[in-house]
Amino acid sequence: MSLNKPSSPFPTTGYFGPKYFCDRDDETKSLISKLQNGESCLVLGIRRLGKTALIHHVLYHMPKSWNTIYLDILHTENEYGLLNAIASGLLRSIPEKSIFGNKVWDFIKSLRPTISFDPLTGYPQVGFDVKEPDKQIKDIFRFLAESSKPTVIAIDEFQQIAHYPEKNTDAWLRSLMQTLPQVHFLFAGSQQHILSNLFSDPGKPFFKSASPLKIGKISEAAYSSFIIKSFKRSGSDISPEVVAEILKWTQLHTYYVQLLCNRVFATGERVIINETWQQEANKLLMENEPFFIHYRSMLTGPQWNLLKSIAKDRIVREPTSKSFVEKHKLGSPSTVLRSLETLQQKELVFKEYDENGNPFYSVYDVLFEQWIAGKFAF
Ligand SMILES: Nc1ncnc2c1ncn2[C@@H]1O[C@H](COP(=O)(O)OP(=O)(O)OP(=O)(O)O)[C@@H](O)[C@H]1O
Ligand SMILES: [Mg+2]
Repeated sequence: MSLNKPSSPFPTTGYFGPKYFCDRDDETKSLISKLQNGESCLVLGIRRLGKTALIHHVLYHMPKSWNTIYLDILHTENEYGLLNAIASGLLRSIPEKSIFGNKVWDFIKSLRPTISFDPLTGYPQVGFDVKEPDKQIKDIFRFLAESSKPTVIAIDEFQQIAHYPEKNTDAWLRSLMQTLPQVHFLFAGSQQHILSNLFSDPGKPFFKSASPLKIGKISEAAYSSFIIKSFKRSGSDISPEVVAEILKWTQLHTYYVQLLCNRVFATGERVIINETWQQEANKLLMENEPFFIHYRSMLTGPQWNLLKSIAKDRIVREPTSKSFVEKHKLGSPSTVLRSLETLQQKELVFKEYDENGNPFYSVYDVLFEQWIAGKFAF
């Protein structure tokens, strides 16, 4: 896999290789060893924590004796879309100049698709006009199974198949997987509840078909030394104390850490002090204010009040408890419960479990939380 160099040591999209990727050593090792052991895996975790980047990191580190294929099926709406995504993912992931790459191109061409190239990225895009896309998908997977190398196919945003109008995609995909001993799957997605449902409901075809790995936040120690090192490499100085403040403000949530560090780096300052990041953090809040005001306008009074209360407390363990409801004047526990459901559906609040398995609720978007907490008197 050839990778471009990012414009910042703190990219906020994409994967640019180990130099720009912090930690996740244990997760990477565990996924690689399971895949090598013939298990398919499922990466779970709240949004913007780094599931997609971790998948790319794992594929990057798979031994050269493996074929690695990545596809994102977020924009697919049915089995045709899935077929096109698989064929495009295959052409993008296998270098055309290799012997196997030649075979792949010949094989895909034999299925008579239209092949175009994305004008921005130059990536091939494949389109089929067929009656039964599942047949072609099966053919592609069987073709891969004939390769002399084992293959790992990473399917990101896999929950999408639950939205397809065809009702049995999971059933035939699962039975197809079972006939391909040389092909292993690495699944991930951003809608945790749908994914968990697909894999943990005994009535569903994917039940227990992949070994789950739940990712959490990167440790403060690892992120801190990564940030200091990355600034130093570019000739800037930042102290562990200032980094600790940044990590506190961004709550160690990967995307927000990257975003703030990206902005701080872009200031070009040689010595980063607290004022540097605080100014950038304020700018981010101001830039995003129109979105936050829009979110607020989508909510009813009780929903907004509950969101404000969760933002203020940061972590809420018992949102319907007397003490929480009374402290924030939220009316009745049943109103809170209804509002909480809506806030979760709108992905403004998420439910997670701590290391002891106890549930808690927090505001999803760190910037939104900081905006609410800073803007509204309680
Ligand atoms: N370990 C890491 N080190 C440095 N940057 C990372 C790391 N993991 C993720 N990132 C960066 O954080 C951002 C969010 O990561 P990513 O898109 O992988 O999250 P995700 O969990 O897949 O999100 P979503 O649930 O929305 O799909 C990206 O910009 C990515 O480059
Ligand atoms: Mg992702």
